[in-house]
Amino acid sequence: MRSHRIAMIPGDGIGTEVCGAARAVLDAVGRKHALGLTYDEFDWSCARYLAEGAMMPGDGLDRVRHHDAIFLGAVGAPGVPDHVSLWGLLIPIRRGFQQYVNLRPIKVLDGQREIDLVVVRENVEGEYSEIGGRLYQGTPAEMAVQEAVFTRSGVTRIVDYALDLAERRTGRLTSATKSNGIIHTMPFWDEIVAERVAQRSGVTLQSEHIDALCAKLVLDPARFDVIVASNLFGDILSDLAAAVAGSIGLAPAANIDPTRAHPSMFEPVHGSAPDIAGRGIANPVGAIWTAAMMLDHLGHPEAAAAILEAISHVFATTSMRTPDLGGTATTVDLTHAILEAL
Ligand code: NAI
Ligand code: MG
Repeated sequence: MRSHRIAMIPGDGIGTEVCGAARAVLDAVGRKHALGLTYDEFDWSCARYLAEGAMMPGDGLDRVRHHDAIFLGAVGAPGVPDHVSLWGLLIPIRRGFQQYVNLRPIKVLDGQREIDLVVVRENVEGEYSEIGGRLYQGTPAEMAVQEAVFTRSGVTRIVDYALDLAERRTGRLTSATKSNGIIHTMPFWDEIVAERVAQRSGVTLQSEHIDALCAKLVLDPARFDVIVASNLFGDILSDLAAAVAGSIGLAPAANIDPTRAHPSMFEPVHGSAPDIAGRGIANPVGAIWTAAMMLDHLGHPEAAAAILEAISHVFATTSMRTPDLGGTATTVDLTHAILEAL
């Protein structure tokens, strides 16, 4: 039996609720497929920040460096600025472990509509940069400058990853750009995309301005397959695409270091949802699907497929839905139904 040590970071709000659901499904599928999963749980969160002044300990990365994967629920709490939770935990992990691919598949699992696409988001540079600053704070002359960072190596490797994925899927790649308005970084992005696509015969490229792309994604999501995007554009596109598919509560995500030098981190797209936290009604599907992505990454595609089939089965054969999808089921109800289907 191959065994895997998972670092679990439930986080805040519904993060802790959906992690419980994902863990139950992982345990069930793990027994069936003899996966030997073990977990170490970490309390890194806004709750920890409020109690101890930091989202994670100073040597946090070293404590999870040798795990096979990291599973994160969500972080964020009222009373803690969102940039603290993001820059105090998520971004240090993504960057420290060079998880340069943020992979966000969007698929309609009830078989009712044809949406099956993947957003490949650049995850360690781009618009999310610490470079910049503020001047003259509190005066009428106050100003802020924020720099975006695009490197040839960073753009090349994310585009190549998306191309590999497009080749394995339908061969259609869409690149999100805005080279009409953003006149330095985005033409640079476009040039590298064109260069890399020219190396492949089996992939066709459509380059779309982000604003038009958003509209097309709402009006005709079925025409898209793999979409490659910068950090900010990919963040926005994947929330939008998840909503088009039904709910942000359905959407999974993986932060991947394709070199496998570091552990990759798996987390649903959604946040800690303080508006519904503690009520037991969070949709667990995003987290459960995320668990399937983790198993796939760890080399267990059959176990991952079994989870997705179980989710599809529940959606296709029952009307069990959490309130975000118009139903009355609880997190536990839906998780039990998925376990039963497994
Ligand atoms: P959010 O994703 O937490 O919530 C947006 C809306 O979607 C809310 O109405 C929420 O109730 C609903 N929703 C989200 N997930 C759901 C689920 N599984 N089931 C049912 N409904 C769901 O985003 P928001 O409100 O912008 O952020 C809340 C907090 O989460 C903030 O502190 C933010 O910084 C943090 N956040 C953390 C993320 C992470 O840990 N990766 C990602 C996004 C936000
Ligand atoms: Mg987002």
